[in-house]
Amino acid sequence: MNTRLLLSAAMLAALFGTSAAADSHADGCTFEAEIPDFTQEQIDALYACVEAELLENYTSGDNEVAAVYREWGHAQTGPAAPGFHGGRFLNTFVNDVGYDAYIQYEEDDESFEMPVGTVIAKESYTLRENAPRRGPLFIMTRVATDEAPDTDGWVYSAVQPNGNPMSISQAFCHDCHGGFAFSDSLGYPAVEVRLGAE
Ligand code: HEC
Repeated sequence: MNTRLLLSAAMLAALFGTSAAADSHADGCTFEAEIPDFTQEQIDALYACVEAELLENYTSGDNEVAAVYREWGHAQTGPAAPGFHGGRFLNTFVNDVGYDAYIQYEEDDESFEMPVGTVIAKESYTLRENAPRRGPLFIMTRVATDEAPDTDGWVYSAVQPNGNPMSISQAFCHDCHGGFAFSDSLGYPAVEVRLGAE
């Protein structure tokens, strides 16, 4: 756990006091708001609460990635406690073209390139008022570098929880991802949940 997460845990504790109510909901889908202190059991329980609904929501439009990503290779053992992407829980899937390359988690090679045709989809969700709140499905598609020269060969997109495309800025996404220069712009899941890690 990094310092920033510890700090925000302390801030949440100060805001909510010490008398956080125990989970009293029969559905088990109410959680105390101190996400940075979540145990693996709580992380798993939260995912169980959103798993089916996320898929139903993302596929309620006609997005082609949403329709198939759950059949792809899973790049992590499960969601990790939130860090990036607005403090959301994240869960990453990679299509067959890119899966083997992705789970090398290369981050030390400036010439590393993911295969053209790689598509990566990442579910996101968080908590609001102690209940699960669904976030977008974030997508990155690798095309030839000269087809998307401004973003080093990546095309970014996202699906809203209502199934509609989310309007995003390529530059916004790549301003951050482009900083991962030694991993072909990939950020990768938190180390403790990486599948197939070295
Ligand atoms: C402030 C930095 C930042 C911004 C802005 C950002 N990302 Fe990310 N993104 C990350 C980090 C860090 C990870 C790895 C975190 C994880 O998966 O736990 C990541 C992971 C991803 C992944 C999984 C592939 C990977 O990099 O390992 C996808 C897909 C993705 N982001 C899409 C997007 C899209 C689409 C946008 C724009 C709407 C976006 N990102 C904006 C930092 C950012």
